[in-house]
Amino acid sequence: PKIYFVTPTYPRREQAAELTRLGQTLMHVPDIHWIVADDNRSCNAMVVKLLKKFGIPFTHIASPMPEVYRKASIVPRGVANRRAALNWIRKHAEKGVIYFGDDDNTFDLRLFEEIRDTKKVSMFPVGLIGDYAVSSPVLKEGKVVGFFDSWPSKRKFPVDMAGFAVNVEFLLTHPNATMPYKAGYEEDHFLRSLGLTLEDIEPKADSCTQVFVWHTQTSKREPPTIKIGSQLDTSLKDLLEEITS
Ligand code: UGA
Ligand code: MN
Repeated sequence: PKIYFVTPTYPRREQAAELTRLGQTLMHVPDIHWIVADDNRSCNAMVVKLLKKFGIPFTHIASPMPEVYRKASIVPRGVANRRAALNWIRKHAEKGVIYFGDDDNTFDLRLFEEIRDTKKVSMFPVGLIGDYAVSSPVLKEGKVVGFFDSWPSKRKFPVDMAGFAVNVEFLLTHPNATMPYKAGYEEDHFLRSLGLTLEDIEPKADSCTQVFVWHTQTSKREPPTIKIGSQLDTSLKDLLEEITS
């Protein structure tokens, strides 16, 4: 089965570096279709140019975060664009498996072979996340009986976006399954909307004892404020936005 690897991404100065590292990982993966979902009004030309270089089959779609959420105190990141990818999959995907792979995470190539035979929903540990450094399903006699996560927050499925994969046909049997604009609860609500039960979960990565994906984060630096002329103060960020819009 094919892997539909969904990557939400957005314009910022680390973007080309993140996508280059990720693209060069995905070059090693057979039978993959990369859905790059741009949090942007239109498909960023720099991103298209970059994606073509890898020689991986890809689809580039744009769907910006609605302004009202951008102003929220905790922004629900990557939702509009992941939703657009789900719509694309519902229309175009053949048999396969969907995985939400953020542009800044780190993937061991063994992950892809683990998730490829997902029947409904598979789950596995995610490294370098939260206060406990790992988030993982907890198993008893080979079955998922609970979760180890530093932020349970009354979630039924306290897992990270990188910690599960979904079978396409299973997704298609749940036409109303969607991701909410609710920061921190995207995974839980999405998995609930699939009508998932603990018994359905297929544990991977050697009974969840191995870490094949890390929630790495690139440290961000605000672009410096530069002075143009004597009175005018503008930031490089605004300038870049002006040039690229
Ligand atoms: C964590 C989870 O790993 C994400 O899957 C989840 O979407 C996110 O929290 C959340 O709920 O806010 P984290 O590392 O904290 O991820 O967030 P980012 O890496 O900044 O963003 C997650 C993904 O969304 C990335 O692929 C990023 O490129 C994308 N994103 C981020 C957007 O598309 N738009 C934005 O404005 C920000
Ligand atoms: Mn991240």
